[in-house]
Amino acid sequence: MQKIFDQLIDSFIENKIGIAADFLSENLAHQLTQNLLLHFNNHEMKAAGTGNEQVAVQNKNFRSDKIFWLDKKNKNPFEDDFFKLMDAFILYLNTTCYTSITSYEFHYTMYEKGDFYKKHLDQFKNNDSRKFSFIIYLNQNWIAADGGELLIHHQHSEQHISPQNGKSVFFKSNELPHEVLITNKSRMSITGWLKSD
Ligand code: OGA
Ligand code: MN
Repeated sequence: MQKIFDQLIDSFIENKIGIAADFLSENLAHQLTQNLLLHFNNHEMKAAGTGNEQVAVQNKNFRSDKIFWLDKKNKNPFEDDFFKLMDAFILYLNTTCYTSITSYEFHYTMYEKGDFYKKHLDQFKNNDSRKFSFIIYLNQNWIAADGGELLIHHQHSEQHISPQNGKSVFFKSNELPHEVLITNKSRMSITGWLKSD
C-alpha cells in the first residue's frame, strides 16, 4: 500500500492534486459499490446540500447528486476495511507531511444521468475543519463519452479527471476550485474530508 500512498502524496505535492489509479482493490471497490446501490435502491440516498447545518441550502441548480453517510456504527465489514485503509493513509500522511489530521467523514455519492456539481471549494465559510478532500470512484468501464469528469480549475490551467473504478483523488479543501461535469450515466463514488478539529 505504501507505494500507492506515495503516488497520491507525490502527485499532490507536484500538482496540488494527488491521483492514484488503484487505491481500492477490485474486490473492495465491488463490495462498496454493492452497498451504495443497496442504499440507492432503498431510497436512502438524499439530495446533498451545500454548506453545513447552519447554512444548509439545497439548490438543485448548483448540485444534483444524492448522498448517504458512512458510519462506523453500522459495522459493515467492507466499510470497516475502507476505514482501516483511510486510517493507514492518514497515519502515513501525518507522519511524512506533518499534517495533523484527527478525523474524517465520508459519504456514498450517486450522480444519476444528467447530474452535476457546479464550480466550488469544499471548505465551509464558517468552519475550516475540512483540510483535505478525498474521493474514490466506483465506476467500472468508464469511457470519455460517459462525461462526468471532475474538472479542476488550477490557477493557469484546467485538468479533467475521469471517474474510473478504484481511482482516488486528494486535494486541499480550501485551495482548488473544482466541478463535476454533467454525467451521461450513473456515476458513483465515496467522497469525504480529512479534518483537523
Ligand atoms: C464534492 C465534489 C467531486 C467528484 O462532492 O464536493 O466536488 O469528482 N466531488 O465527485
Ligand atoms: Mn467538491
